[in-house]
Amino acid sequence: MFDLVVIGAGPGGYTSAIRASQLGLKVAIIEKRKTLGGTCLNIGCIPSKALLDSSEHYIQAQEEFEDHGLTVSGIKINLDRMMGRKDKVVSDLTSGVAYLMKKNKVETFYGFGKIKNANTVEVRLDSGETTSLETKNILLATGSAANTLPGIEIDEQNIVSSTGALSLPVIPEHLVVIGAGVIGLELGSVWKRLGSKVTVIEYGSKIAASSDTATSKLLQRSLTKQGMEFVLEAKVNSAQVNKNNKVEVEYEGVKTGEKQKLVVDTVLVATGRRPYSEGLGLEDLGIEKNKAGFVMVNSHYQTTVPNIYAIGDLIPGPMLAHKAEEEGVAVAETLAGLPGHVNYMTVPSVIYTWPELASVGYTEEELKDKKIAYNAGKFPFTANGRAKSLGCTDGQVKILADKETDQILGVHILGPRASDMIAEAVVAMEFGASAEDIARSFHAHPTLSEVMREAALDVNKAARQF
Ligand code: NAI
Repeated sequence: MFDLVVIGAGPGGYTSAIRASQLGLKVAIIEKRKTLGGTCLNIGCIPSKALLDSSEHYIQAQEEFEDHGLTVSGIKINLDRMMGRKDKVVSDLTSGVAYLMKKNKVETFYGFGKIKNANTVEVRLDSGETTSLETKNILLATGSAANTLPGIEIDEQNIVSSTGALSLPVIPEHLVVIGAGVIGLELGSVWKRLGSKVTVIEYGSKIAASSDTATSKLLQRSLTKQGMEFVLEAKVNSAQVNKNNKVEVEYEGVKTGEKQKLVVDTVLVATGRRPYSEGLGLEDLGIEKNKAGFVMVNSHYQTTVPNIYAIGDLIPGPMLAHKAEEEGVAVAETLAGLPGHVNYMTVPSVIYTWPELASVGYTEEELKDKKIAYNAGKFPFTANGRAKSLGCTDGQVKILADKETDQILGVHILGPRASDMIAEAVVAMEFGASAEDIARSFHAHPTLSEVMREAALDVNKAARQF
């Protein structure tokens, strides 16, 4: 009898399994893929970062080295090699997770898990056999799958989801990206840098929809400068492969109703993801889902069957690996009698474009909606010594702090290595810090982190360097 059977070995599932085992529980994990790590490691966060890094090197060599006094010539893209490197990064990490399972004595089953009853999970093993696992608790950590649009069939050749876009065999001449969300902007950037013409068609009136509006506008400006084209407030009605193996994309202005057509090589559908809960036996147990298919849980992540828990992309909330991880840890700790808890106010989100967009807490629009009075402090990277010497001066840090108490309510960074810089803001917010706390803390000189300090000083109009 296991204490916990985890279904799904993505960041939420495997982190929960490790934590539960550390706390003395007997744990099994089931994974339907041949490798562990879930969408994030296999076909998401990690391979996309590998390609973003490779393509960034290419752009630097092409456009920036000369400025550093480095003349290089004859740079060519070897796409097979780039893809091979990406695959190696992925396989190193997925086998690392398998090692972690062994090290932490988590029993791993490769196959499809289905809940038979509240204490039994049946696994259809890859070998073709079936085995039953008896358990006190079950954790559903099955994640999400790519969504498509009515009238658009993803074939992963001409019309691709993020999975296909991570492995295109040739660089498309013209790529249309449907959706200016995280996936569209990141993978659109990869192919733009490698030479494609990229047109992003977005239904809403801004890119990176959930971001602070002013910061999203700055990102759009930077990406436009890099050559990415945006068509906002436009709805894609259809995309079909024609007899010449091209894709005909039809879209119309949301407000104008004006219809347009593009004929391109490849279309990336990046219009969101849906929770993955098919075939798990949830309906037979009466586990409640909402209209969009997300599994409903209480504040302890219990579903309507109390010893069956759910976390990550499967439940409402941002679809982020680090959010799933924290929820997985909270479940493991709750099962071990500890107070498992997640602070949703401090979940950072990052878009790994160049410059990167990273944020945590409230946007200015949310504060206005909630009628919370605030002061805003801003500081641009152009005025920072390290950013200047790196040659990356696009963007700014914006800190929003409570008008009365100075407590930090939100931080929005567009700039070089914003993904790493946001960690300071997360820690500050976890500790309930004020803008003055950041302003009075040492920040080594010269570093990008000084932009954070100057923005904190600017909250009370005391910035020094600009
Ligand atoms: P998303 O929800 O971020 O963006 C989808 C976009 O598509 C929205 O802006 C929406 O308005 C637009 N859209 C929907 N229907 C449309 C239509 N018919 N025509 C034109 N535009 C349309 O979804 P995305 O980018 O697919 O990402 C899925 C999930 O994966 C997100 O929750 C994201 O947070 C997560 N993710 C996170 C990453 C990170 O943390 N860096 C990286 C990649 C994915």
